[in-house]
Amino acid sequence: MTGAPLAVLRLGVADAADFHELRLDGLRRHPEAFGASYEEEVRHSLEDCGRRMESGIVFGIRRNGQHALDGIAGLYIPEAIKTRHKGVLWGMYVRPEARGRGLGSALVARVIEHAATLVEEITLAVGASNASAMGLYKSAGFESYGLEHRALKMAGRYVDEVLMRLVPVQ
Ligand SMILES: CC(C)(COP(=O)(O)OP(=O)(O)OC[C@H]1O[C@@H](n2cnc3c(N)ncnc32)[C@H](O)[C@@H]1OP(=O)(O)O)[C@@H](O)C(=O)NCCC(=O)NCCS
Repeated sequence: MTGAPLAVLRLGVADAADFHELRLDGLRRHPEAFGASYEEEVRHSLEDCGRRMESGIVFGIRRNGQHALDGIAGLYIPEAIKTRHKGVLWGMYVRPEARGRGLGSALVARVIEHAATLVEEITLAVGASNASAMGLYKSAGFESYGLEHRALKMAGRYVDEVLMRLVPVQ
C-alpha cells in the first residue's frame, strides 16, 4: 500500500474514453474473467461509452491524480419490477501495475456503499479459478451460493463461475 489516498469517482460522460481504454485492456488480458468480449466492445464508439456512463452506475480510480484510470467497477440494477431489488456488480478491473494496493477493495466498498441505498442484495459471478478476485470479494463480505457450470464458452473452452451474494448494510 502507498500512502496516496484512493478516491473512487463516479464516472460520467467525460470519462468515456478513459473507461473504454481500461475496459478493453481488461477484456484483452483476461478474457476468462468477463462475460463481455474484447471483439464486441472494441467496436463500441465513444458515444456508446458515454451513454453507458450516463445511464449506468460506473466507478473508477485514478492513482495520484493521474489522467488515466487505474481501476473500474460497475453496478447494474435491472429496471424490471420483479428483479430491481437486486444489483449486479460487474466489470471489476484493476490495471496490472496498480494491483495489490487496495484499489480493488476501494472499488468494491464504493459499489456496496452506493448499492445499499438502492437494492436489497448485490450478486456477482466470478471465474471458479480466479483466486485474486474471489479473495477480494470474500474479504468484502460476499459469500458464495452456487456454481454455474460452463457459464462462459470461449473458443471451445468452458469457464465455470462461482455465484456470490452480499446484503449491504443500510
Ligand atoms: C481482482 C482484482 C480486481 C483485484 O484488484 P487489487 O487492486 O489487486 O485488489 P486489492 O489490492 O484491493 O486486494 C484486495 C483483496 O483481494 C484479494 N487479493 C488480491 N490479489 C490477490 C491474489 N493475487 N491472490 C489472492 N487474493 C488476492 C485479497 O483478499 C486482498 O486483500 P488483502 O489486501 O488483505 O490481501 C485484480 O486482480 C484484477 O483486475 N484482476 C483481473 C480482472 C478480474 O479478474 N476481475 C474480476 C472479474 S469477476
